Amino acid sequence: MNRTSYCGDLRANHVTTAAKQTLLGWIHSRRDHGGVLFCDLRDRSGLVQIVFQPTRQALLAQAQSLGSEFVVQVTGQLTARPEGTRNSKIPTGDVELIVETLEILNTSKSPPFEISEYSEAGEDVRLRYRYLDLRRPPLQQNIRRRYEVTKTIRRVLGDEGFLEIETPFLTKSTPEGARDFLVPSRMTPGSFYALPQSPQLFKQILMVGGYDKYFQIVRCFRDEDLRADRQPEFTQVDLEMSFVDEQQVESVVERFVGAAFEAILGQGAFPGAVPHMSYDEAMNRFGSDAPDMRYGMELADFSEIVKTSGFQVFAKTVAQGGTVRGITLPAGGSLSRKETDDLTQWANTMGAKGLAWLKWTFTGADSPIAKFFQPGELQSIREKAQANEGDISFFVADSPGVAFKVLGLLRRRLAESRKLIPAGQWKFVWIETFPSFEWDGDTKRWNAVHHPFTSPHAEDWAILRQAVEGGIGDPTKTPLDQVRARAYDLVLNGVEIGGGSIRIHRSEDQALIFKLLQIPPETAQLQFGFLLEALEYGAPPHGGFALGLDRFVALLCGEPSIRDIIAFPKTQKGLDLMSNAPSPVSPFQLRELGIKTTGA
Ligand code: AMO
Ligand code: AMP
Repeated sequence: MNRTSYCGDLRANHVTTAAKQTLLGWIHSRRDHGGVLFCDLRDRSGLVQIVFQPTRQALLAQAQSLGSEFVVQVTGQLTARPEGTRNSKIPTGDVELIVETLEILNTSKSPPFEISEYSEAGEDVRLRYRYLDLRRPPLQQNIRRRYEVTKTIRRVLGDEGFLEIETPFLTKSTPEGARDFLVPSRMTPGSFYALPQSPQLFKQILMVGGYDKYFQIVRCFRDEDLRADRQPEFTQVDLEMSFVDEQQVESVVERFVGAAFEAILGQGAFPGAVPHMSYDEAMNRFGSDAPDMRYGMELADFSEIVKTSGFQVFAKTVAQGGTVRGITLPAGGSLSRKETDDLTQWANTMGAKGLAWLKWTFTGADSPIAKFFQPGELQSIREKAQANEGDISFFVADSPGVAFKVLGLLRRRLAESRKLIPAGQWKFVWIETFPSFEWDGDTKRWNAVHHPFTSPHAEDWAILRQAVEGGIGDPTKTPLDQVRARAYDLVLNGVEIGGGSIRIHRSEDQALIFKLLQIPPETAQLQFGFLLEALEYGAPPHGGFALGLDRFVALLCGEPSIRDIIAFPKTQKGLDLMSNAPSPVSPFQLRELGIKTTGA
């Protein structure tokens, strides 16, 4: 089959009597004009009109059997469309192919949905017939862009001296915070491999192995609750470097992310030098460690002003060590009572005890709670909120954790519903100086915020040593929450697209961290013994990063869900509707693995 051109590439300058064109593709649509049959022929490049003329009766009769999505080879003369029949809406609209021979390579059942730009079909049907969905132009474009991104990243990192090295899928559990997918071992009955949540341990071992600069575009597996930006298997651009500090890793990341960004959005599109912000500042200003900086509505702290006020909800919260924070929606005074009630209810479901609000008016403030404040207090609140007449301010009184979370989410919700997010803007930001540990009140122990291999800031080791001596389990005695991690996240338009850290490279330091996390030496030995041991054999200082490729590409394609940039994604419930995975296996397979199931 000798294709002379892709359908979508044909233009007026290809019209010549010197040679015929042979095209291969799918019948996209057909229009019968009494004796003349027009079809659109589609391949991955786009569409072109092909014409069966009445002068070739046998051919026309053959063409009458063509249906949607039939696969054909046609040969004929490319001609300029007659004046008045040109179609400026498609790139090939100036030309058409006058068919001379037709070969039907395959027929097709009538597809369950139209192969078009906008699919009316529900996502379940699209995923069930993914091979048809994949033919639709938006998916074709997304999948192609995804490849442009990975191709560019491979080129840039290759040129910078990185080696692409594969690491195992059948491995031991890596602690990245999610549940593992387990794979039973037939040859060691009762034992399981874990699919890697990331290549974290192996890439660190590669640094001990002397490879200096490693990268891999690699699948990671995490059994966690799925969302629009989370899949059970997803792809990271994973890298690790020896003898580097934060700045050196970040600068490599900016180069490959910038190049990939420009491969899709055009040269000069990458905004360049990415700003840095501390975790504390991000929380205080945006209520999130992945702040969307395309719009304002920053948080303000009202605790000082309201702590002596007559509004007990606020005053008491501050007295008990909590905080009162708020955001102001410009021109939000027009929100109806029902809308503020709905927002309050939503805030409750997000964990807030309530959502107070003040509508700023010419004379003061309009709200059921306005009466609890002195005029001077209202004035100070308004100044702090930088609110104008007609605006509305929302307040959450709670622990800082709850106040930040709810206001951070409210800020995004309001920006989306009120359409305050400017189109076509790209705001990258590095978030750094994360806390190393967080106290888990339920299990009464400290957890690693990033992962347990992240190095604390050099000055903070003293706190750690003190904590080990002073008793680990008591958060009031051991201010472990003051320890700062040498970790950094890359955020784009409010989405965490990647993260990394400088690692611990001395085994005694790593052992100390495990101790603080109350991971018993036997457990540490069992789970990461190979890493601890490797660190004893001259491990170089090292650090790295992983880009969430799916999230990055989804943003570049303007897709709200990463499912639309993955060829074969899973549903929210982790199902592959096309292949029907996961599915039961035969009793024989289970017997071989020594596994008995207790049923669903
Ligand atoms: P982390 O766990 O932050 O770091 O993962 C890196 C990036 O991967 C993306 N991501 C996901 N994307 C889709 N579906 C998921 N379920 C999912 N989980 C994470 C996010 C995230 O920023 N080993 C460390 C990296 C390092 O320290 O070098 C790691 O895996 O965009
Ligand atoms: P109440 O005194 O409980 O009727 O609450 C008065 C108003 O304050 C209501 O609009 C509540 O939603 C709001 N509210 C109650 N608790 C809080 C809180 N912790 N933070 C912010 N607003 C609150």
